[in-house]
Amino acid sequence: MDKIILTGDRPTGRLHVGHYVGSLKRRVELQNSGDYKKIFIMIADAQALTDNADNPEKVRQNIIEVALDYLSCGLDPAKSNILIQSQISELCELSFYYMNLVTVSRLQRNPTVKSEIQMRNFEASIPVGFFTYPISQAADITAFKATTVPVGDDQLPMIEQTREIVRKFNSVYGEALVEPDALLPQNKACMRLPGTDGKAKMSKSLGNCIYLSDTPDEVKKKIMSMFTDPNHIQVSDPGKVDGNPVFIYLDAFCKDEHFERYCPDYACLDEMKEHYKRGGLGDVKVKKFLNNVIQEELEPIRNRRKELEKDIPAVYEILKKGSETAREVAANTLAEVKSKMKINYFDDVELINSQAEKYK
Ligand code: TRP
Repeated sequence: MDKIILTGDRPTGRLHVGHYVGSLKRRVELQNSGDYKKIFIMIADAQALTDNADNPEKVRQNIIEVALDYLSCGLDPAKSNILIQSQISELCELSFYYMNLVTVSRLQRNPTVKSEIQMRNFEASIPVGFFTYPISQAADITAFKATTVPVGDDQLPMIEQTREIVRKFNSVYGEALVEPDALLPQNKACMRLPGTDGKAKMSKSLGNCIYLSDTPDEVKKKIMSMFTDPNHIQVSDPGKVDGNPVFIYLDAFCKDEHFERYCPDYACLDEMKEHYKRGGLGDVKVKKFLNNVIQEELEPIRNRRKELEKDIPAVYEILKKGSETAREVAANTLAEVKSKMKINYFDDVELINSQAEKYK
C-alpha cells in the first residue's frame, strides 16, 4: 500500500520550538525521504473554531502565520500539499456519517478532550462541536487515506479513535477506509518540550514559548531567563539535570558537533551533564551554550521567513492550490464512502431498475 501522510495544526498562534522539535522538523525529513507517495499538511481552522467560536478573527489572522512557519521550516509545496481544513467541505459530510459510529461515552473517555475541557473551564457547558472534534479529526485523516500521522503523544487518543471508526465503518459497510498509524517523535525530549518557565507545556497564554519567528534578541532573552534547577544556587552546588528545562532543550536540540563550535570544554552533552551534577558548572554558561545551539537552528528558518514575507499573496496562492488538490482527493473518498453506505441512489442503476421491477 502507498504510504500517505496527513497531519496538521490548529491556527491559534505562531508556531514555537516545541512544535518544531515535536513535529515540524520531522515532517520536513519525512517529506525529503521520498518514502511517501503523498503528504497532506492541514491548517485545522475548523477545529480551532470549535473552542474559539467567538473569536474567528484570531483564527483568520493565524492562518498566514502558520503557513509562513511551515514554509520557512522547509515544507515544500511541490512535495507537501498544504491545505486549509474549512475549504474542504467533504470533511463535514464525512464527520456527519462517522458520528453514527461513535458513542457519547466513548467521546467522554478521550483523555486529551477531557483535559482540554478542564483547561478551558468548559465543564458546565461544552460546545458540541468541541466535544466531537475527535470525529472530525478522523474525517481529516481518513479523507486522504492517510497511513501515517506524525504527531505528539497528546494526539494518540485521536488516532486510536480514528482507528476504531475505520474498523467499525469497514465492518458495517465494507472495506473503504484505511487504519492510520501515529508516528511519534523519536526522542523523549522532543515529545513535549516544557515552557521556558519549567511548566509542562509551552502555551501562548502562559507566555513561556520561544517562537520560530522570534528575533535573535528575543530568543536570547528568553533563554537567559529560563527556569533551571532552583536548588542550584552557587556555581559550586551540585545541580539536577532531570526535569531541568535547559537540559531538556539541550536533549532536544544539541548534537556533539555543537560542542566543538560553542563549548569545546566538553565533547558531548553527557560530559556537560556530569559536570553540572557534580557541581562547578554555572547556569549562565549552560544557557549561553543553549542559546548558540538554538540560534544556529533558527537562523535559516528566520531568513526564509523574511523572504516569504515579501510576497504574502503567493503564500495564499499556495494554500489555495493545496486546498483544491486536497478537495479532489477528499471528494473521491466521500463518493466511495457514500456508495458503501448505499446513499448513492442516482449512480445506482441496479437500485432504480429493481424498484421499477417491484412496481411493475
Ligand atoms: N488536533 C491537532 C492539534 O491540536 C490538529 C489536527 C487537526 C490534526 N486535524 C488533524 C493533527 C489531523 C493530525 C491529524 O494540534
